[in-house]
Amino acid sequence: MNYKIIIINGPNLNLLGEREQSHYGYTTFDELKQNCEKKSKELGLKIEFAQSNIEGELVDLIQESRNKFDGIIINAAAFTHTSVAIRDALDIFKKPIIELHISNIYKREKFRQKSLISDIVTGGIFGLGSDGYILAIISMHKLLKNEN
Ligand code: DQA
Repeated sequence: MNYKIIIINGPNLNLLGEREQSHYGYTTFDELKQNCEKKSKELGLKIEFAQSNIEGELVDLIQESRNKFDGIIINAAAFTHTSVAIRDALDIFKKPIIELHISNIYKREKFRQKSLISDIVTGGIFGLGSDGYILAIISMHKLLKNEN
């Protein structure tokens, strides 16, 4: 079976490579997208790579994913710490969800140390740089094949 997953990126992640390199590294958003597509292809996974700076668009994407995708990998970026709407939308998605952060949010400012989604996702990866996306794809593949 060819599983389909979506990688959803929140605000400002389109500026990866340019923004706060000490936290997020030098890999650009386009490079990250290409790396994710390459790994997914190797594993036989179909992926969509999405990004929005707008909370409501992210909620729409999550809602629409219910009937289109088998799993969600999400870096909700700043909305991780603030958005009950994104949390509620994710809670309606009854399939595997991996929460992802490039930086270690628990080592940063107090306001970043709280995630509104950690307790409703399947699992999470943080602090491993943009490699975390590749690890998340591998983990999602295993979750979907029930190999974890
Ligand atoms: C982030 C961490 C968030 O606190 C921040 O707002 C981001 C990126 C990360 O990937 O480390 O935009 O989610």
